[in-house]
Amino acid sequence: MVARSVLVTGSNRGLGLELVKQLVGLNVPPKIIIAACRNPSSAQELNKLAENHKNIHVTRLDVGDEESYSQLVTCVGEIVGSSGLNLLINNAGVAPKSTRINMVNWNQMTDTIHINTIAPLMLTKALLPQLKTAASQMDGSALTVERAAVINMSSILGSIERNEQGGLYPYRASKAALNAITKSLSIDLRTFNILVTSLHPGWVQTDMGGSSAPLTPVESISGIINVLQSLNEDHHGEFYQYDGQKLPW
Ligand SMILES: NC(=O)c1ccc[n+]([C@@H]2O[C@H](COP(=O)([O-])OP(=O)(O)OC[C@H]3O[C@@H](n4cnc5c(N)ncnc54)[C@H](OP(=O)(O)O)[C@@H]3O)[C@@H](O)[C@H]2O)c1
Repeated sequence: MVARSVLVTGSNRGLGLELVKQLVGLNVPPKIIIAACRNPSSAQELNKLAENHKNIHVTRLDVGDEESYSQLVTCVGEIVGSSGLNLLINNAGVAPKSTRINMVNWNQMTDTIHINTIAPLMLTKALLPQLKTAASQMDGSALTVERAAVINMSSILGSIERNEQGGLYPYRASKAALNAITKSLSIDLRTFNILVTSLHPGWVQTDMGGSSAPLTPVESISGIINVLQSLNEDHHGEFYQYDGQKLPW
């Protein structure tokens, strides 16, 4: 089992949708999958999946709209009950095009950092009471996704050490800062036995990754689900990719 309850942001298309599909298809699927997306009414594929799987709860969430968080927290509380939320996957993200030094602009920087960096942090903060509740249901202090975890969907493009091509200022900066947040959260949440890891899904054929990407969503997410099941203390506050390889910050 990956976890009893999972919340995935940006679950209407791309990697988020594939995550929901593969989670629900597991031999032992999560009892609760909260599939959060900006516009549930237009999330046709997700809604169809939810019609056939009663453990999928399609829930409205624009991760950039902090004012809506209290409503989301109430809704998550009603769904997960006294067991709390085991796994938060901060997957929603944006990647503006044309971001070489001559093209980058102020709004691209602030908009990208707003969604890719600030939102995962503030959403984690908002859902922390429910993550703590889930973490406290197990004895001992071992870290696993089954107990309680925050997974930040990062990118190799956020690795400062692996940056050999420059450009992509908003996206690289947003994911490097997200990785810094993963590290701080890992230290702050260790006392509550909540695991925190950054994951890179590989370069994947989605709207964001484009059709030249070498990996399909199915390949990337099946790797990610294997990685999720293997995460422990060694992975806490670290950066890994979909095939289990460790990445440099
Ligand atoms: N594909 C790759 O090659 C690749 C590589 C490295 C990392 N990643 C990361 O993996 C994650 C998923 O990427 P993807 O390839 O699936 O991208 P995608 O196909 O472009 O999908 C992005 C998802 O994020 C959602 N989203 C964007 N802004 C949002 C907001 N304000 N509130 C709620 N949801 C929002 C989108 O919802 P809407 O439909 O409402 O816009 C969509 O569901 C991202 O964090 C991305 O940075 C992807």
